[in-house]
Amino acid sequence: MDWITSKRCSAAAAAEMIENGDVLGVSGFTLAGYPKAVPLAIAARAEKLHEQGQEFQVTLFAGASTGDSCDGALARAGAMKLRMPYQSNADLRKGINNGSIKYIDAHLGKMGYLVRTGAVPAPTVAIIEVSAILPDGRVYLSSSGGNSVCYLEMAPKIILELNTRYGDSFVGVHDNALPELPPHAKSLPIMSSGDRAGEDFVRIDPNKVIAIVENDGFDEVTPFVEPDEVSKNIGERILDFIRFEERSGRLPKGMAYQSGVGKVANAVLCAMAEDERLGRIDLFTEVIQEAVLPLLKKGKLGFASGTALTLSQKAQQEYVENAAEWKKHFVIRQQEVSNSPDLIRRVGVISMNTALEADIFGNVNSSLVCGSAMMNGIGGSADFARNCALGFFLTPSVAKGGAISSIVPYVSHVDHTEHDTQIFVTEQGLADLRGLPSEERARLIIKNCAHPDFRDELTDVLEFGLKHAKGTHLPLALSRAFEMHTRFMETGKM
Ligand code: COA
Repeated sequence: MDWITSKRCSAAAAAEMIENGDVLGVSGFTLAGYPKAVPLAIAARAEKLHEQGQEFQVTLFAGASTGDSCDGALARAGAMKLRMPYQSNADLRKGINNGSIKYIDAHLGKMGYLVRTGAVPAPTVAIIEVSAILPDGRVYLSSSGGNSVCYLEMAPKIILELNTRYGDSFVGVHDNALPELPPHAKSLPIMSSGDRAGEDFVRIDPNKVIAIVENDGFDEVTPFVEPDEVSKNIGERILDFIRFEERSGRLPKGMAYQSGVGKVANAVLCAMAEDERLGRIDLFTEVIQEAVLPLLKKGKLGFASGTALTLSQKAQQEYVENAAEWKKHFVIRQQEVSNSPDLIRRVGVISMNTALEADIFGNVNSSLVCGSAMMNGIGGSADFARNCALGFFLTPSVAKGGAISSIVPYVSHVDHTEHDTQIFVTEQGLADLRGLPSEERARLIIKNCAHPDFRDELTDVLEFGLKHAKGTHLPLALSRAFEMHTRFMETGKM
């Protein structure tokens, strides 16, 4: 019997091979390409063991967020002890915020490096979804690259989940190069989105494979929702500004775009597809989301380079049917490469990420509501914000029906410092903070981006700071920094 046949087993049998305290390194990035059968079986096993009074919990490392049959199932079963580096699942979020699950929210581009250098423990078992396994030990990843190559290399044991839905639609799409480790690491030869530096397969040691399980599941991605008016408005403002910068000679043509997660970021891509004045574009991003399909269908997509192809079920089906043609436009990389500061700077990226809140000085909070309740995580937003050629942070000016102002005197948690942010856009307008000192930044962001209901208070806090702060370089009076947040906590409205 060949090694592939001999390792085939059920998900339940594979789950029996997982021990309490194992560190699982799974494939998966923004709901794409994660194992779907084994995590569900591990969750069921955990529930059974818990009923018998036995301890059973694992640590879960992934690329980024995984679907409900992985993150959700393990969280609901009380089987997850620690999660790193990003998530977006409602039940997992609940566990993180009630203290039952520990979470390390880390830069996505740095996770693989931390594992490869031993700063965080290597997975004891890698569980990786693949679309093909060859007898000579070559495997082809599925809809995401994530940290899979790192986990396959570092883990002493491997479980492969063979997704039979994809056929050969991901063969030829992946570029599985990893950066060399420092010191004196050689650069990867990637200068633009379509460049390749490695193979489209990963060569593994068959002796490390302890189980091969089949699944035929779709990535559990919610159906694509057309952008609302606020998001469309933000998208159009960004495109107008980019054209203005190009006309002014400050932005060379040929930059690639990065678009973050969420509905506003999706809206920008949709606006690009609609914009007749925009030529063919490349993406150098981390998540290639469904809104790229209109660009592709209109012949406006050059290359989309990312670490996951995150599509709704309908679009996944469409991708498989059209893969022979469409895959010529996609390159899926490992996240150490898609999010590499070196490459983001070299390719030249226009970066667009969504903020939960921004302050009048330009600091951004992407992750923690009122400074303590985790939403999703920082993701790769900082990898791009810090290293892009032109960087936007987007947010509707208010949240929760107007109860919350997204522009505040001081952010309740800092993910992106004022030194790393450039341009802010809400449906109210755009503030280009580049080259402006603190007070001018504050006045511009209040005037152009804050909702009219909150402009007076924000101005008042600024004026108070100019009189009473310890210094005027950054005129923030500590006594008033969080007054809007505190009011929200006490009354439900800022
Ligand atoms: N305070 C409290 N809640 C807020 C808020 C604020 N200042 N701003 C937004 N929210 C809430 C919204 O009300 C919504 O809650 P709901 O789901 O209960 O309605 C939720 O946050 C999401 O906001 P939404 O307006 O739907 O935005 P989105 O889908 O565009 O997501 C982020 C916005 C910030 C949550 C999302 O972009 C994110 O997680 N970013 C961090 C990671 C990242 O940037 N990755 C990019 C690199 S790929």
